[in-house]
Amino acid sequence: MKFFLDSAKLDEIKYAYNTFGIDGVTTNPRHIMLSGKPFMTAITDIANWIKEEGLEGADRFPVSVEINPHLENTEEMVEMARKVAAISPNFVIKIPAIEAGISAARILEKEGIRTNVTLIFSAAQAILPAKNGSLFVSPFIGWKEANGEDCRQYIKDIVDIYKNYGFYGKTEIICAAIRTPKQIVDCAVAGADIVTTGLAVYQDCMKHAYTTQGLGVFCESWDNTVTD
Ligand code: E4P
Repeated sequence: MKFFLDSAKLDEIKYAYNTFGIDGVTTNPRHIMLSGKPFMTAITDIANWIKEEGLEGADRFPVSVEINPHLENTEEMVEMARKVAAISPNFVIKIPAIEAGISAARILEKEGIRTNVTLIFSAAQAILPAKNGSLFVSPFIGWKEANGEDCRQYIKDIVDIYKNYGFYGKTEIICAAIRTPKQIVDCAVAGADIVTTGLAVYQDCMKHAYTTQGLGVFCESWDNTVTD
């Protein structure tokens, strides 16, 4: 399973890469806003860091960048996607899971511009992006579970459909809007390719009360042992 950081903050991206070895980044308009930078500055800063770190390349360290969410027709989406994709070979263009978005993703993939179809909330929405060759789909977990839904079957359905029809591994499933370590485990058990979440959730993955307790026991033993 691959782990992406869901953030446009460069300090968080650097920290998560150096600490947890994250495999890529996803952003969205909210993350760009939270970075406090103008859109082009935020994404260019990420592209420059990728270059400095020696991670530049179409098949390495993907960074999903969402186009203007106000765009409603295919031509406008394609035009903006081309401009964003020209900034870095690592950029994957995030397109909403609506009819015009699928059409735009289909055109972009044929041109060699990789796409991430986002805002997916049902297995049905994940099928046509795969049929049309998108590199990623982003089914959201946290938003649904916050409203009382259990997403385990929904993710497994997408995995099973992809396995049934040869999409599995070609269009990779990014489980998005992950809020807890348990949701990461659920996605891993279901066979999702990738999870994307914020830094705090990765940090929470490495916390356990028994680990803290065990360290206390071992520290006490260490302190009561004669060291040579
Ligand atoms: C995923 O690609 C999205 O950027 C993200 O997970 C959206 O949800 P959030 O910003 O509420 O976490």
